Amino acid sequence: MYGFWQQASTQWLGFALACTFAGFMVAALGWARWILPQEQVTDLRDTYPQPVEERAQQVEAFVHGSAQLTRKTWLTRMAYAAFGLFGLAALFPLGALGPEPDGTLFHTRWKRGDRLQRNDGTFVKAADLNPDAVQTVFPEGSVGDYRSMAVLIRLPDGVGKNTTSGLVAYSKACTHAGCPVALYRAAARQLICPCHQSVFDVADGAKVLEGPADHPLPQLPIQIASDGYVRATGDFPEPIGPGFWEHS
Ligand code: FES
Repeated sequence: MYGFWQQASTQWLGFALACTFAGFMVAALGWARWILPQEQVTDLRDTYPQPVEERAQQVEAFVHGSAQLTRKTWLTRMAYAAFGLFGLAALFPLGALGPEPDGTLFHTRWKRGDRLQRNDGTFVKAADLNPDAVQTVFPEGSVGDYRSMAVLIRLPDGVGKNTTSGLVAYSKACTHAGCPVALYRAAARQLICPCHQSVFDVADGAKVLEGPADHPLPQLPIQIASDGYVRATGDFPEPIGPGFWEHS
């Protein structure tokens, strides 16, 4: 329970569970080996009607046995406590159901005015990129946030639709299964996903040229501010990554 509470790794949780079952096993073996009486008793066939003194002996033996069991009550209570705690631990995974996604399925951290920040913390200026240069970018202050990761590309003059002075930015999460779309084939202006080779047309809204992805990479709206920095003008217009029911 403590490991789950502390969000320990799966390996540690598995190890703790194995130790728990091992403890139960040792307890059960110990109970059978050292606590239960080991004597073997042969009960002779009764003759009826039983003599009065024999009945008295049996009653005495029963009372004696009951007294022995009574002395081990604490062991029984410990067993109940162990199984009770084990049952309680089984309820803990319910905690893994929360918290609610709370809109994060539909939005990333991009917001109007965010500068585009590189992995090394520097900000992108429009003049930094030569034609066909590629840059992975994040919202200002959210470097490393996978869902917000975008790829910024400068297309040569006269190439591409919906560019901002030749710049286009698309979500880097593949719309097939979410791999980072990491390869850029400059000669053809194509982004390629290394996982299953989906190909996206950078010059035409990142439309899918080859599957298995079935819809384009969402385009990040950007502008070039007066200070020369490239800034977002809002979030992606649709959910990033693998398909939602809206796309079907
Ligand atoms: S995750 Fe990109 S093609 Fe499958």
